[in-house]
Amino acid sequence: MRNHLFFFSTDVHASPFDVNIGLDAGYDVVIPFTNVTEAETEALTHDIIFSRGPKGTVHSGIFVGGSDMELVENIVKKAHDSIFEPFTVSIFSDPKGAYTTAAALVAKVKKAVGELAGAKVIIFGGTGPVGGIAAVLAAKEAAKVTIVTSRDKTAGETAAKKISKQHNVSILGEAAKAEKERLALMKNADIAIATVKAGVQVVSSEMLETLKGDKKIIADVNAVPPSGFGGLEPHDDMKAISSNIYGIGALAIGVVKYKVEVEIFKAMQSNKIVADYNMAYEIAQTLA
Ligand SMILES: NC(=O)c1ccc[n+]([C@@H]2O[C@H](COP(=O)([O-])OP(=O)(O)OC[C@H]3O[C@@H](n4cnc5c(N)ncnc54)[C@H](OP(=O)(O)O)[C@@H]3O)[C@@H](O)[C@H]2O)c1
Repeated sequence: MRNHLFFFSTDVHASPFDVNIGLDAGYDVVIPFTNVTEAETEALTHDIIFSRGPKGTVHSGIFVGGSDMELVENIVKKAHDSIFEPFTVSIFSDPKGAYTTAAALVAKVKKAVGELAGAKVIIFGGTGPVGGIAAVLAAKEAAKVTIVTSRDKTAGETAAKKISKQHNVSILGEAAKAEKERLALMKNADIAIATVKAGVQVVSSEMLETLKGDKKIIADVNAVPPSGFGGLEPHDDMKAISSNIYGIGALAIGVVKYKVEVEIFKAMQSNKIVADYNMAYEIAQTLA
């Protein structure tokens, strides 16, 4: 039987990125459904599970993506509630690529430092999908995590509280509008991560040069120039940026992200699985 991947997207277009990876991972066809809402999920899921009989269900997988993280989670729940033995199918969610990207990012950083427990981690742009999930994964590793907004402190604290409540972790929120404020936060951190909107630089190389003290790791997921940290190139993988700062660039992280997504799509074609950021992180740690 051919392997069919049904792609439920909350967006007006299904991401070509995920379509490509689904096909690279061996699916015979990827069928996009766009602007999907919770209301349509049960009917769509039933049409998937009943059409090919119980034996066909392992050949039909559901991928849920799109920019609306909350809606993606609600669709996943609805799809999950709509399946039952022997008609279960694999369901993999990765809103805006955040789960696989955050998993690859945190796995690379963990490999660099050996142990995240107790490490002080700051995440610029941690109010967004990638940074928020990176914060969750690092906090689950017992790191002391602070997400940083470019708006005001209330916005940072509100976002931190929301993520902490949703994922049952403890994350703090901060604000830093000016580069000097961002540098001041970096002074007290062991690990500084940039997950800001593509093309935004958080701290320049000149400012990074002024950071003295213990060894620090910096990591950036943005592959669109300029990089989040001045002097950090996309392919860098624990490159010395200055005497005490080592950097991991967006493509070093992106390669792992790609492999994680491929592995999950492959697993879905031979087993029935439910995959989210937890499974992505488990796999990322074996690949980082
Ligand atoms: N390497 C990979 O494989 C890979 C895969 C997927 C995504 N990405 C990259 O990951 C990054 C994060 O993705 P995302 O979807 O989470 O990003 P996003 O939602 O576009 O932005 C993340 C955060 O950036 C902050 N921000 C926006 N404008 C800013 C500015 N001018 N200065 C400082 N901060 C600003 C916002 O937070 P505040 O408003 O709270 O400041 C926002 O919540 C992007 O650069 C994306 O390209 C990489």
